[in-house]
Formats: sequence, C-alpha cells, structure tokens
Amino acid sequence: MNTQDTTLLRRLNQAGAPLDLATLAAETAMPPETVDARLAELAACGFHFTSEESGVELDALPDGLVPEAIACQLDESSAFARDIRVLRQTASTNDFAMRLGEGGAAHGTVVFALEQTGGRGRLGRRWYSPADGGLWFSVLLRPTAPVAHWPRLALAAGLGVARAAERLTSRPIATKWPNDVLVDERKLAGILLESRTDGDAGFVVLGVGINVNAEKFPPEVAAVATSLKLATGADYQLNRVAAVLLDGLDVAIHECECDFDSVRSQCEQRDILIGREIKIRSGAEVLSGHALRLGPHGGVILRQPSGAEIEVPYGEATPVKGIAS
Ligand code: BTN
Repeated sequence: MNTQDTTLLRRLNQAGAPLDLATLAAETAMPPETVDARLAELAACGFHFTSEESGVELDALPDGLVPEAIACQLDESSAFARDIRVLRQTASTNDFAMRLGEGGAAHGTVVFALEQTGGRGRLGRRWYSPADGGLWFSVLLRPTAPVAHWPRLALAAGLGVARAAERLTSRPIATKWPNDVLVDERKLAGILLESRTDGDAGFVVLGVGINVNAEKFPPEVAAVATSLKLATGADYQLNRVAAVLLDGLDVAIHECECDFDSVRSQCEQRDILIGREIKIRSGAEVLSGHALRLGPHGGVILRQPSGAEIEVPYGEATPVKGIAS
C-alpha cells in the first residue's frame, strides 16, 4: 500500500468536489506530474475520476475490495490505515495473520480474503466464507495490556462490530456472549480471537466474519444466519462496509484499553443472554443458571441453582427459552 495514494484519495473523497492539481500536489507533498501519474494508476485499479478545468473529482470507488479504497475512508487517526492486504483466496485469514504476526508484522496489519477455503468459527466449527457473500478479515494486534486482559478484546470487538452494523443498517443490533452479533435475532457476524504469547509479549489475531450481500446460506445455518442486505433490503459497497467496521473496531479496542468497565456495561446492555436462564457448554461441562452480568475477565457471571456465582470464561451459551441460538 502507498500512503501517499491514501492521502490523495482521502482528500478527494472528503472534498466531494473538484480539486485542482496544484492543491492536490501541495496537500500530498507530491509534484503535480506524480499526482497525475498516481491518479492514472488508481483509475486502472477501479477508481473513477472526472477531470475538468476546475480540477479532478473522485466520482466512485471500486466495486471490489481495494486496500486504498478502504484506507481512504478510515478515520484519520486509525490504527488500521497503514497495511491493509486483500487476498483473492486463502484458507483462513486468521492463519494468514498468525503467520504475519510470527514474521514480525506491525500492530494494525489487516488481511481480507475475498474467499476462505477453510474459514474457521469458534469451537472448531467451519465458517462458511464464499466469494461475494461477505467480508472475511483478520486484524493483528500487539496489545500493551497484560496477557490476562486479552480475552476482553473479544467483547470489545463484538461491541465494535455491533456499533458499526448499527451505523450501516440503522437497525438495533444485539450481541450474544462471547461475541456473536445479531440482527432480528439472527447471526450477522462472528468473531474469532486467537493469540500467541511469549511472556507478556506476543500478539492477538482478531478474525471477523460478517455476511454483507448474501441472500442464501447453506442448510446447516439457513435458519439462524442473516446479512446486512437481508436486514435492510439494500446492497452494500464492500469498501465502505470494511472501513466502517475497521473504525468501529479501532474505537472499541481503544475504549477497552482505557475503560473496560464502559465496554463491559455496553455489552451487557446489548447481550440477549443477560438476565435470562441459560445453558453454557464449556469444554466437557454443561453449566446452567441465571446470567447476571459480564465479568472482569470478559466471561459471563452465572448464578448457579446452588446460589454460587461463577465467571464462565468461554463456551457456547443458549437461553433456556426463546431466541434461536
Ligand atoms: C464464530 O462465530 O464462530 C466466529 C467466526 C469467525 C469467522 C472469521 S472470518 C475471518 C477469520 N478467519 C477465519 O477463519 N475465521 C475468522
């Protein structure tokens, strides 16, 4: 990725009106001939410009996922604007990002795949990730927080994706601990957090799968899955959805580092399990009880039939009555 291209595109995108070459050259610190050459190259990647006497205007972003088209729509302070990669196909973006992390890639590196051939969900499940249906991506984080706090990032990511989906759909978006994102009581997105630790060093890979323009799902998930398009009837531009999600994640991850209590309480307000009788399959155990709140480690605090209160750190939870799981 070229950061000068991102600056150029960001400026044109924000302007929404023609800008003359001299202004663009000054603002991007490139000679006018270089600006011209970059615009020609970007046009070949699918960006649409019109050039008139009054200057150059960005008319449309590419239809397909393009790193610069995502980066130029991100908040200027975004941690995710520097290294965005788009792969045509990979087994799993989480595996790819893990390898990048092992090779020393920087905090904030992002990997999208148009299609995953071995997309993975939580608890060893398969994640259906065909070309054209959604966004499948992973972000590499090198948290400054102690390793014991890293599971909190899964809750924060759920909140970030939920708020982004709300921005995109103007519909209420719920969560289901630990990090399912739901609209109309159906699953819209899922998050898979994996990490490598070495003392207090190491990194986290946060994988996000969100159904965007998909209208059909395989039989095993058809009754419980949905997409942005099914929720609103609108067609979504992938670069725009990617940017809104990355901004949502960025804000929530930052909030998690500064004020986890606020993240926790916002997640509690959205979570369909809190205040209900639930069952949690956690490892070999099945626990049941009343879901009271979320805990300091990102688990769910369960009041068991004996009256004991425990924090369950991970698992697959379902309400005893109502709401599809
Ligand atoms: C779940 O709800 O079970 C979590 C699903 C996570 C899917 C995403 S898609 C991008 C990343 N790569 C993977 O293989 N999985 C995650």
